[in-house]
Amino acid sequence: MPLIAPSILAADFGYLAQAVSQAQAASADRIHVDVMDGRFVPNISIGLVVLRALRRITELPLDVHLMIVEPEKYLPAFAQAGADILIFHAEATPHAHRALELIKESGTQAGLAVNPGTPLGVYEELLPDIDQALLMTVNPGFGGQRFIERSLERLSRLRALRDKLNPECLIEVDGGIDAQTAPQAVRSGADILVAGSAIFNDQDTVSRNIALLRRNLAAAG
Ligand code: DX5
Ligand code: ZN
Repeated sequence: MPLIAPSILAADFGYLAQAVSQAQAASADRIHVDVMDGRFVPNISIGLVVLRALRRITELPLDVHLMIVEPEKYLPAFAQAGADILIFHAEATPHAHRALELIKESGTQAGLAVNPGTPLGVYEELLPDIDQALLMTVNPGFGGQRFIERSLERLSRLRALRDKLNPECLIEVDGGIDAQTAPQAVRSGADILVAGSAIFNDQDTVSRNIALLRRNLAAAG
């Protein structure tokens, strides 16, 4: 079964602890934390203070998605604040290899993300050095966007690369994942599904939203 990583970006931040415990009670596999700096992406979200607070309230792995320029400056601090997996963007630094080494030195798992318009070639070089490959299925910066259909073909290519170069590495998709797109993404090669607005919304409870995702995944086999 694929892993489900609720993105708290879509949660009500006045009740963040409650959102996390609801996700945990619905047996979410990890919590996805979106860090945005207003430079790499046109939005500012959360940082170290919130990550530290999350670390105190959950034992679920914290999957930290850094949408920031010069990630190498902050990697040790985010590791220290409680990240279990640190993911930075290939587009955000000319020193991706060095950044991966920094993450490993901090004892955290290492993830590398790419935007929808970025060639997958970077994974040909770096897949052997990472624990997680994050393929963006929307342009990063905001929750609630529509899944970019062409991502499915990219996902199949990434899956083939992963199987060849580092079968241990997990493939994560992020953006526009809901009950319809989740099974398609898994069929094309995803192991971890990030979902924000499909899990935290006014339509239904967190637990029913996660159950719906799982039901559709099971039905799609
Ligand atoms: C977008 C973030 C996502 C976002 C996903 O830049 O990286 O993690 O929270 O939100 P949804 O699932 O609503 O597309
Ligand atoms: Zn994300």
